Amino acid sequence: MTSELLTVDAARIDALVAELSLAEKVALMSGDSTWTTPALPERGIPAQKLCDGPNAARGDAMRGVAAASFPVGSAMASSWNPGLVERIGTALAEEAKTKGVSVLLGPTINLQRHPLGGRNFECYSEDPLLTGRIACAFIRGVQSQGVAACAKHFVANEAEVERHSISSVVDERSLRELYLRPFEMAVRDADVWTVMSAYNRINGRFASSHEPLLLDLLKREWGFAGYVVSDWGAALETVDNALAGLDLEMPGPPRTRGERLITAVADGTVPAGMIDDCVRRLLRVTARTVGLCEPDALPVSAPERAEDRPEHRALAREAAAAGMVLLRNEHNVLPLPAQGLSSLAVIGPNAHPGQIQGGGSSQVFAHYQVSPLDGLRARVDDVRYALGASNNKYLPVPGQERCWLPDADRNGLALRLFAGPEPAGEPVVSRSLSARVSPWGFIPLGLPGREDSPFDDSGSFSATLEFDYEPEQSAVYDLGLQSAGLARLYVNDRLLIDNWSSQQPGDAFFGHGSTEVRGSYRCEAAERIRIRIEFQSQSNRFIQGVRYGIAPQTASPEALLAQAEATARAADACVLIVGSNSDWETEGNDRADMDLPGRQNELIERVLAANPRTVVVMNSGGAMTMPWFERAPAVLQAWLPGQEFGNALADVLFGDWNPSGRLAQTFPRSRADSPADPFFHNADGEMHYSEALSMGYRGFAESNRQPLAPFGFGLSYTTFELTDPQIELDPQSRGARIAVTLENTGQRSGRETVQVYLSDRTAAVAQPPLKLAAFAQAELAPGARRRIELTVPAREFAYWHEGRQRFEVPAGDFELSIGTSVAERPHRGLVSQSAQVLDPEAAAEAS
Ligand code: BGC
Repeated sequence: MTSELLTVDAARIDALVAELSLAEKVALMSGDSTWTTPALPERGIPAQKLCDGPNAARGDAMRGVAAASFPVGSAMASSWNPGLVERIGTALAEEAKTKGVSVLLGPTINLQRHPLGGRNFECYSEDPLLTGRIACAFIRGVQSQGVAACAKHFVANEAEVERHSISSVVDERSLRELYLRPFEMAVRDADVWTVMSAYNRINGRFASSHEPLLLDLLKREWGFAGYVVSDWGAALETVDNALAGLDLEMPGPPRTRGERLITAVADGTVPAGMIDDCVRRLLRVTARTVGLCEPDALPVSAPERAEDRPEHRALAREAAAAGMVLLRNEHNVLPLPAQGLSSLAVIGPNAHPGQIQGGGSSQVFAHYQVSPLDGLRARVDDVRYALGASNNKYLPVPGQERCWLPDADRNGLALRLFAGPEPAGEPVVSRSLSARVSPWGFIPLGLPGREDSPFDDSGSFSATLEFDYEPEQSAVYDLGLQSAGLARLYVNDRLLIDNWSSQQPGDAFFGHGSTEVRGSYRCEAAERIRIRIEFQSQSNRFIQGVRYGIAPQTASPEALLAQAEATARAADACVLIVGSNSDWETEGNDRADMDLPGRQNELIERVLAANPRTVVVMNSGGAMTMPWFERAPAVLQAWLPGQEFGNALADVLFGDWNPSGRLAQTFPRSRADSPADPFFHNADGEMHYSEALSMGYRGFAESNRQPLAPFGFGLSYTTFELTDPQIELDPQSRGARIAVTLENTGQRSGRETVQVYLSDRTAAVAQPPLKLAAFAQAELAPGARRRIELTVPAREFAYWHEGRQRFEVPAGDFELSIGTSVAERPHRGLVSQSAQVLDPEAAAEAS
């Protein structure tokens, strides 16, 4: 596939490259601000605005303009439905336009290598083919609207530990067959217009300086015609980045480019031709998205808008339901009867408001959020709610409506920035902030070099943040403070929390912040308290800021559990919504363990004992241990499903939506069962991918270990049968053709995913026991049947031959098995392949 970028305004771009001065070219190669590239009005080159991300179009993160929140990556991919994901991509591009954005920073297509990966929720799957298929659909949807997608993070970025420096040590074959595959598909099959280089190093070399990967592979071998943008702050090496083909340093203003790069070109260290190539790529994407214009006629950038469209609401609801995976349903506890439930207990820390997204750069202020409690209340008159247990890691950031500007009758926080180390005297900047200034609760206080910061990298500064907090009830409140920099918190002028004189490093602020320090204060309902936070910068920090939390003290954990038990016992049926939140599942930190936080497992055991008609809903972005699994009548994996959580959940629980989600990742019983576990996090500075090709379900199959729930698995309210399999080699393409009849043998309409797995029976070279080779879906009415046809391209039979640096199909017998999960493959057939070398172009077309 030839990139469409190559034909857009090619002559104009060539002319511009010939006309631009070196300084202008180098200027284009770095950001101008956190989210924009520079404009050159006299050349007719407009700025590009970039924004996150994979499940919502956030706009400028510090503006806090609301966005439509779709299910996160792990949920989207569990639909196994590229058509649906393409529609999400289209909607995200429409949303991006309301924010003036021309480059959407998604999809995240790293693999879920280990269940504790902090960004697993953002990623699609542990399988490269499924990841690639979903990614291509997402990219096609986004780019159909003239907005560029960005495949990230290139590559081997499967953990958050030491995230700015870790070296992923991966053998070439695993890299080619697993971790690079989704990127290859994104480039070759979906013509993605931008790629983001990761923070980490790969086999010792920074991703942004990796010439063999960026230049030789991505640009030359795969023919990528767009640009490579650094992850934010990942461009660290002026010369090596440029020589490797990193086209754009973000964010701006430049830290490593500018004058330094001009000098390197002037003295011949970086060839001028390389700069031209970068500029050409940057201009292609500009031309294809915002468009080049007449000199001095730049498009006016409109303010960001929040457009809450009904069709996006409907799509978010459908997508949330489509991703949910029914893991267990004994005696058909589900669906719940629409009529005839006299009362329903809705219990759990995630029942209200519920967790709709993960933490970090993908997090947005949703247009709105339907909680599970809201969604279920709309279905049943008598709903009884109990919290049951807390799963907070940090105290929650208060809502906008509770924070008032001092001495003013409107919501907000007063920020003052001072030039010296002590927050005293005349402030350099005074302004009011919305309490929802950043979606992850941080208040960024002058990131050094930011466009809105009056301070440069070296300057130390200080700040105060002041607001009046309006307590909801008379109670003792806990207050918490974390900071990247030094901070202390005063209540009504009395020092309550000191995170200044000494401080412990913690994991907030993407690992740049302190632990949370807490204090408590007795509040009276509606009597506002004045909160003042003082802050001092530390110049060695990449991010500077504070995060505060506040919440009334609840009943004791024991009392919460007892209340939940009583509520469950008294109701007809119970929906128990447990899980994590965006402090646990977040960019910046891998999870420390796989368990539900707090006393949730105990809560589940006690509620199951109190009400045998209990449905456990898992509200998490990835796999959790479920020691009670076999005792629960029904378990639904709801993921982090976006703004329509509660409505979609009610659709599934009451049977308006027949569950069709299938696991896109293995659910192990414990972290130790994961094939990557022995190598996850145990090396200083290096992350060894020593399980190699035996990652995920491939490794489970090899060791015969039984997971809690296998890859590809999911139940339905109906039943399906697969009959009349046909498996044959296509002599023309050297791939395989498969057909099978799918029949809905149950009582309800439903959707099933037919999955084809491939095993090399001869195994002339070492091979994993099996791998996903094709899948297709059909929606069938009760009693209906359909012939499903699938192809397995020759590429799926091939392996990477390291010596000969190419994909080859080994001669031998291959088994193709057809089923509905990796553990349920009722039909098998053999095909014989003769040895063949894959023509790289043909292989790409076929993949
Ligand atoms: C993340 C990227 C994100 C970027 C901009 C980084 O911290 O790793 O995924 O696109 O920030 O927010």
